[in-house]
Amino acid sequence: MSDSHKTGPLKIAVAGLGTVGAGVLKLLERQADLIGQRCGRRIEVVAVSARSRGKDRGIDLSAVEWYDDPVALAAHPGADVVVELIGGSEGPAKETVELALERGRHVVTANKALLAHHGTALAAKAEAAGLAIGFEAAVAGGIPIIKGLREGLAGNRVSEVHGILNGTCNYILTEMRTTGRDFADVLADAQKLGYAEADPSFDIDGVDAAHKLAILTSVAFGTPVDFKSVHVEGIRHVSAVDFDYADALGYRIKLLGIARRTDHGIEQRVHPCMVPKAAPIAAVDGVFNAVIAQGDFVDRVLFVGRGAGEGPTASAVVADLIDIARGRSTPTFGVPAAQLSEAQPSPMEARRGSYYVRLMVVDRPGVIADVAAAMRDQNVSMEQFLQRGRAPGEAVPVVLTTHDTDEAAMQRALATIAAKESVVEPPRMIRIEQF
Ligand SMILES: NC(=O)c1ccc[n+]([C@@H]2O[C@H](COP(=O)([O-])OP(=O)(O)OC[C@H]3O[C@@H](n4cnc5c(N)ncnc54)[C@H](OP(=O)(O)O)[C@@H]3O)[C@@H](O)[C@H]2O)c1
Repeated sequence: MSDSHKTGPLKIAVAGLGTVGAGVLKLLERQADLIGQRCGRRIEVVAVSARSRGKDRGIDLSAVEWYDDPVALAAHPGADVVVELIGGSEGPAKETVELALERGRHVVTANKALLAHHGTALAAKAEAAGLAIGFEAAVAGGIPIIKGLREGLAGNRVSEVHGILNGTCNYILTEMRTTGRDFADVLADAQKLGYAEADPSFDIDGVDAAHKLAILTSVAFGTPVDFKSVHVEGIRHVSAVDFDYADALGYRIKLLGIARRTDHGIEQRVHPCMVPKAAPIAAVDGVFNAVIAQGDFVDRVLFVGRGAGEGPTASAVVADLIDIARGRSTPTFGVPAAQLSEAQPSPMEARRGSYYVRLMVVDRPGVIADVAAAMRDQNVSMEQFLQRGRAPGEAVPVVLTTHDTDEAAMQRALATIAAKESVVEPPRMIRIEQF
């Protein structure tokens, strides 16, 4: 391969010139001298591909070859690296990456969906051919968490990684808390401001965070990427009143991705959590992301920064390109793909911890006793109980928290409570994490 000479420029072909692709070209142009000094060679864009050739992207494309088809670009004879910035787990993004590897090109991508679904197979293919796949930008945007785990913490056994992995959700939850507005209202505003997509479901239903968590889990624990084992819940059911109760109970509400080694296997879950106000992650607001890793020698490490956007994501993509230009290589997920060790996924029912539950119940004698009995029958011990105001004969909110209990017992208690005629809405439950 031409880049093995490491004298001439590293030649790259870029598929996708949207937010990230255009950002990468701008960064490479603006920092060309700095990058040249840091790598001892320049990084040169030789070819690009996007859907619409005529679109003004604020970048000069006059000196690069244009491809309508990104898969054809992957076979560009002069490229050392193909940078895939199209997106999607299947279709042109996957075909582009596969062909690039077949043709002996290194790959850099920001595509978490692709890696969550096909990461292990692609890593095996790359490593068999002596090629790199860089994906720093795929998890938490500008935060160097992949390098942080794979390189900075390489001497540790990691027992847990958790974090705020979706800036759209964190923005919505922060706005709901600080303004008291409802989910739908804040989401509509986030869409107007460009913080949420026209179809926001990937973000707000937790799928995007789950893609990133599956990748983090693999890097943290040396296991194959196992997206299908991630338990995923989004933020649609978090209500404005939950923020008031959380505040009164000493918590903040965050959508977290949590990967943990337990006696039952590896837990991977994405769902809204209540975290103590004093926990460092509770203070990470707005569009910011954060990841906390727990290593046996280093103890806790916290990474915070911007998880998306043109500049931060381009910063991560270019860091991967610089590694390749310098000739640095690391197994894709920290250990060679052939040695990733299968691990038992821990079922959600095995989660142990405390819970916040909000009920709408008819305010009449005996209802609370029924709720308490359903909890007692499953050995769930209640810690706090809040009922604000009275409205005899009408529906009122009642909130309770529990001591540590098993998820399976909690779910059985909630099913019994939901079936009661005096409980007028499905119970809402938020797991409490005492970090
Ligand atoms: N945006 C972020 O902040 C961010 C952060 C982290 C990771 N990522 C990831 O980075 C990737 C790109 O995201 P983005 O936000 O830059 O997306 P985007 O703005 O929608 O850009 C996608 C680009 O791909 C091109 N494209 C789409 N389908 C194509 C096809 N069939 N053939 C050729 N080109 C095609 C589009 O062409 P046209 O421009 O002509 O339409 C566009 O240039 C995704 O995997 C995303 O998950 C994004």
